[in-house]
Amino acid sequence: MKIAIFLVAIATTIYVAATPATAIPGGWSKIKNITDPHIQELGEWAVMEHNKVGNDNLKFQKVVSGKQQIVNGVNYYLFIDAMQLEGSHGTYRAVLLEEDSSNPNTRKLISFNSKNWVMHGY
Ligand SMILES: *[C@@H]1O[C@H](CO)[C@@H](O)[C@H](O)[C@H]1NC(C)=O
Repeated sequence: MKIAIFLVAIATTIYVAATPATAIPGGWSKIKNITDPHIQELGEWAVMEHNKVGNDNLKFQKVVSGKQQIVNGVNYYLFIDAMQLEGSHGTYRAVLLEEDSSNPNTRKLISFNSKNWVMHGY
């Protein structure tokens, strides 16, 4: 009996440890006003940050849609229209965190998908 409880405890520990840290907790909401200058600025910033490490030199066009999640700051999940060097447009997906909306130094680009991304339901 004691052993069974012990095993359950171990299994629970392993399960918790195996749950990826990248799992997104609830609380994401659609950004209602996508033309908000702050949202557009975040998209432009994400493309600039990406260009520092990527070699595709994208030109920001606009944020087309996105979601946000209030954490200790705000997590953003943005779909961005950007132009490639040869002039074709692509939709890119950026994930970023902004701890303080009045301080651009608190922004962190978490991921930037540089391949065309099919949008489902946004
Ligand atoms: C969205 O934001 C822009 C810029 O702040 C503003 O001009 C516009 O009225 C807003 N639209 C809605 C539907 O709130």
